[in-house]
Amino acid sequence: MRALAILGSTGSIGTSTLDVVSAHPEKLSVVALAAGRNRDLLKVQCEAFRPRCVSVGSRADAEWLRSSLSYRPDLHWGPEGLLACALHADIDTVVAAIVGSAGLASTEAALRAGRRVCVANKESLVVGGALMHEAAQAGGGELLPVDSEHAALHQLLSGRAPATIREVRITASGGPFRDWPLARIQAATIEEALNHPTWKMGPKITIDSATLMNKGLEVIEASVLFGLAPDQVAVTVHPQSQVHAMVGFHDGSYQLQVCANDMKLPIQYCLLYPDKQPGPVAPYPWDEARQWTFEAPDLERFPCLALAFQALREGGTAPALLNAANEVAVAAFLQGRLGFWDIQACNREVLAKLPASPLGSLAQVLDADLAARRHAEGWVQARA
Ligand SMILES: NC(=O)c1ccc[n+]([C@@H]2O[C@H](COP(=O)([O-])OP(=O)(O)OC[C@H]3O[C@@H](n4cnc5c(N)ncnc54)[C@H](OP(=O)(O)O)[C@@H]3O)[C@@H](O)[C@H]2O)c1
Repeated sequence: MRALAILGSTGSIGTSTLDVVSAHPEKLSVVALAAGRNRDLLKVQCEAFRPRCVSVGSRADAEWLRSSLSYRPDLHWGPEGLLACALHADIDTVVAAIVGSAGLASTEAALRAGRRVCVANKESLVVGGALMHEAAQAGGGELLPVDSEHAALHQLLSGRAPATIREVRITASGGPFRDWPLARIQAATIEEALNHPTWKMGPKITIDSATLMNKGLEVIEASVLFGLAPDQVAVTVHPQSQVHAMVGFHDGSYQLQVCANDMKLPIQYCLLYPDKQPGPVAPYPWDEARQWTFEAPDLERFPCLALAFQALREGGTAPALLNAANEVAVAAFLQGRLGFWDIQACNREVLAKLPASPLGSLAQVLDADLAARRHAEGWVQARA
């Protein structure tokens, strides 16, 4: 029986994780739940799963939960609350499903404490990937990727000697603007950018999918997770989102991972690994006629992907600078303070103006993150 802490339980990944738990009550139990502002949904989840440890964004919401829950869990709030859940003595597995670099410290602490950490929070790998590996090694923690492309790569690369691998390819749906001409993309509205063709996700990652920054973050994530050089990671646009990743070998052959596009599948893979239980999706319907298409990404219309490759090649704190700039720019876009095309301009500005330094400590990464946020916010305000 795996005992879970789910950080970000009220989000898209968090709720899918609880669906997987409900499907395997004999294998998975919930000990801790943590969320941000959605106290109503957190309350419903607490009543259904009865976690012993609960954290919410603010002290006021923790007090509200204390008075409205029908039982008495340990209640926490804020960043310390996330750590209390991640480090609870009765858990062995943490699902890191908070959005943004707010998930960094709890992911690192859980790995250092020897937990299995199922990481959906790609930002923590992008920002401090080497530090996450170091924490896992120091504490005996285990890092498993929830992102569908990386869970696919985890399966494809398992048992493969690194010297046999020429490249890995992660697929991108291409987002809602795949076929749009540049001028139309530049003027895209919030509603258009939130209208993703194949995946139903939280707002930040949905905007990142429209700019292809999500794929850029995933390129960095793949390099970090699997120890691959920047030129060993490539992106192929595949609008049907059925092939999630490919591994290319030196002999010229490829292996592909295929499954329906439902995040419950990679979540279950990570939670139960190496066990394979009956899945949350039906076996693939190979007898139904269908067409798959593949094409190269267009870096002119989707410059955020090029910026991510640039940050990966630069290394050190460059991915942290890019990630922080992007979080600020996407939030400003969703608030109506920036246009869609300004997101890439903000990211470009921060990468150009702030120097990257070698990756040293978590504190240093958080400093770079803060400096990039300040610079990006100043740039956004100057533009308004
Ligand atoms: N959705 C997907 O299909 C998908 C696929 C692959 C990877 N991912 C990655 O998984 C992560 C989560 O994505 P999502 O789509 O599930 O996002 P989401 O739906 O926006 O959910 C985010 C979760 O994080 C919580 N949260 C945010 N800031 C917090 C803070 N400071 N303290 C505590 N909790 C906080 C939110 O709580 P409240 O809602 O209560 O405020 C919510 O539970 C992201 O890093 C994303 O890139 C997502």
